[in-house]
Order: sequence, then structure tokens, then C-alpha cells
Amino acid sequence: MKRNTYLVAGGAGFIGSNFILNSLIHEEGCTVINIDKLTYAGNLENLQSIKDDPRHIFIHGDICNIALVEELFETYNPSIIVNFAAETHVDRSIHEPLPFVKTNVSGMCNLMQVALEHWNKLPGKSKDTYRFINISTDEVYGSLDSGEAPLCEGSVYRPNSPYAASKAAADQFARAYYQTYQMPTITIHASNNFGPHQFPEKLIPLTIYNALHGKNIPIYGDGNQSRNWIYVTDCCEAIHAVIDKGKIGESYNIGDTNEITNIALVKKICEHLDTLCQHSDHRPHGDLITHVNDRPGHDRRYALNTEKLNHKIGWKPKGSFDDKLLKTIQWYLDNEKWLEHVISGEYHDWIEKQYRDEV
Ligand code: NAD
Ligand code: DAU
Repeated sequence: MKRNTYLVAGGAGFIGSNFILNSLIHEEGCTVINIDKLTYAGNLENLQSIKDDPRHIFIHGDICNIALVEELFETYNPSIIVNFAAETHVDRSIHEPLPFVKTNVSGMCNLMQVALEHWNKLPGKSKDTYRFINISTDEVYGSLDSGEAPLCEGSVYRPNSPYAASKAAADQFARAYYQTYQMPTITIHASNNFGPHQFPEKLIPLTIYNALHGKNIPIYGDGNQSRNWIYVTDCCEAIHAVIDKGKIGESYNIGDTNEITNIALVKKICEHLDTLCQHSDHRPHGDLITHVNDRPGHDRRYALNTEKLNHKIGWKPKGSFDDKLLKTIQWYLDNEKWLEHVISGEYHDWIEKQYRDEV
């Protein structure tokens, strides 16, 4: 039985927390060391169900802190490093790009350099199975016009936002560390994730939150930009499949076939909400949809070719988009307190109480 020690960076965020929960199911004997700075997007409530599980060790810290990262490698001797830690919201990157450079480029390189030094010291077999997984995005490929073929792993990088540029820079370092030092890095380009634990600045949870509170639901520009959505648990399973079967030095697209325009998606969510809960004044939730100024440099369309994942790794998502969307909406309805805490910052007080020892 495998007994990996994962070092997960950014494991209190949306995908990271789902990945940790998924890892403990995927590989029962594993241990997960989770380093997270707990920015506004990091929330230990996401990991409440494993609060007393000795297989999960939480470290409140910043990947930019090299001394702390070195100490973690020495103490825990991780075998698989998965970096989710990042500034992730495109709109924030437009308003203030430098924090994106700091964490997404500098912090990522910091983590990778310590991981390289650690790998160099490992004996033969452990060296062969060691992996550094760089979690990147489809946004590095830039925007597609309708009718253009979905992009492959070898496609040219054309990042359009400061966020996408910072992720593209990190990808180039992961590539260079493999080419120069043969370090076993793998880069993953994931498409838009949705599901539980997503911070309500992103389109799907923002729509649900605003609809539930009778607030306007902002649609940027004409709303005909399209995204390709993957359910977060599917994405985490695919990451595990790539860790198990992926080739070092390569990159893998992870996505589903759920391409939909923003306006169609938001209308769909509003219709589901109409059947699940009534708006206070009995109007359809869709009445709250409001077109606002477009995002500068807004990418029109993302679409990924996932043949490499489907055929070389042998992984494909199962189930329908509508079922997963409904399950997601239901999660936010069942966890309204989670939403309120995240919005109000109350979860920071909760952290102080729950994790006083570790913080
Ligand atoms: P998120 O914003 O929900 O979580 C990011 C986490 O990183 C938070 O817990 C935050 O506290 C932590 N963090 C930020 N800066 C840190 C630092 N300096 N040191 C340690 N921890 C830090 O993000 P997410 O949506 O879960 O995305 C995770 C990763 O996946 C990111 O690298 C992102 O670029 C990538 N990605 C996300 C999507 C998506 O649709 N959400 C799609 C493709 C790729
Ligand atoms: O494609 C992967 C990327 O998906 C990840 O790398 C990013 O970290 C993640 O944030 C996400 O980026 P997007 O910009 O696609 O996601 P967001 O939820 O911010 O927006 C989705 C689409 O909806 C996008 O076209 C912008 C639009 N939008 C968004 C918001 C927040 C609106 O029309 N109104 C809004 O209020």
C-alpha cells in the first residue's frame, strides 16, 4: 500500500481543500502537510471535517518564507508536492498585479527551489517517485474565438491578464527546472472549477450569494463570453490520476466538455434557484441579472483539448453538468453559514479559536 506524504500548498482554499479531502479517500495511508497563508480566500472551515484527523497537519505560513518552507521539508520529508497556493482572482489582478507576481511567481519558485534541493539529497527509489505538481490554468493559452479548435498542451502561451501572466511565468520555471535539473515536475492546466468551498467573488458562488440576498447579479459586457467548467471533485481525481500516471517534464490539460456562455450559466442558476427557494418578493431570481462594464482585456472563450488526459492517463469525468451544478447550488443553500462567515470575515475569529496551537 502506498504511503505518500503530500505537501499541499494553498490547501485551505477552494481546490486545495477539496484535493486534501479527496486525497484522504484516494489514498487512505497518506499524510497531508498543508501550508496556507490564509489570505481572504483561505478558510479552515473547509477542512472542519478532518480537524481531528492525524493524517492532516496544518501549518499557517507563506510559501514566500524560505526558512519555513525548508523547515517543512526537513521535518516531514514529503514525497509529492502540489502547489495550489496563489492569488487567483482575475479582477483583483487587474486592480493590483504585484501580489500576483509575489505569490504566483516568486513564492512558487521559492517552493520549487527548496523542493529541488530536497530531491537532490534523496536516495534512489524515493528520488524516482518524487513529484512536484505545478497547478496552472487554461488562462495561460489566452482567448479563443468561437469555432476555433480547443487548445492542446503544446499550444502557444498568450496570457492576457496579470493573473494569467503570473501563472504563465510559473509554468516556464517548472519547465526550466525539468530541462535544467531533470527535476520531476508536472504542470496541470485546469479549466474553470465549480463546486463547494469556492470564494463568492467567482461567478457561480457570487451569483448564488447575490440571488439569495436580492442583490444585482453582475454580468460583464454582453455575457456571451464562454468558459469550460469542471466539477472540483472531478478535477481533484484527475490531478491524482496525473500524479499516478503522468510523465515527468510534461503538462496535462484537465477539463470537461461543459462549455457555456456566462449569461446562459447565470440564467440556469437563477432558474434552479426559482425551483429550490422562492425570492422574498416572489419575482424570478433572473430579474436581478444586470449587465455592467466589461472586464478589461476580458478573454472571450476558453476551451481545452483533453485528449492527452483521456487517452494517455485514461481519465474522463462522469455524470452530467446539470446534476453537478444542481449539487453545487444545493451545497451553498445548505451551507449558508459558510457563505456568511466568508463574507463577514467571521471565519478568521473561528480560526483563532480552533487552531490556536498550530497558528
Ligand atoms: P483560492 O483562491 O480559492 O485558494 C488559494 C489558496 O492559496 C488560499 O487558501 C490562500 O490562503 C492560499 N495562499 C495564497 N497566497 C499564499 C501564499 N503566499 N502562501 C501560502 N498560501 C497562500 O484558489 P483556487 O481557486 O482553489 O485555485 C487553486 C490553484 O488552482 C491556483 O493556483 C489557481 O491558479 C489554480 N486554478 C484554479 C482554477 C479555478 O477555477 N478555481 C482553475 C485553474 C487553475
Ligand atoms: O479558467 C481557469 C480560471 O478560472 C482560473 O485560473 C481562475 O483562478 C479562476 O478565477 C477562473 O477565472 P475566470 O475569470 O474565468 O473566473 P470568474 O469566476 O472570475 O469569471 C467567470 C466568467 O464570468 C468570466 O468570463 C468573467 C465573468 N464574470 C465574473 C464575475 C465575477 C461576470 O460576468 N460577472 C462577475 O461578477
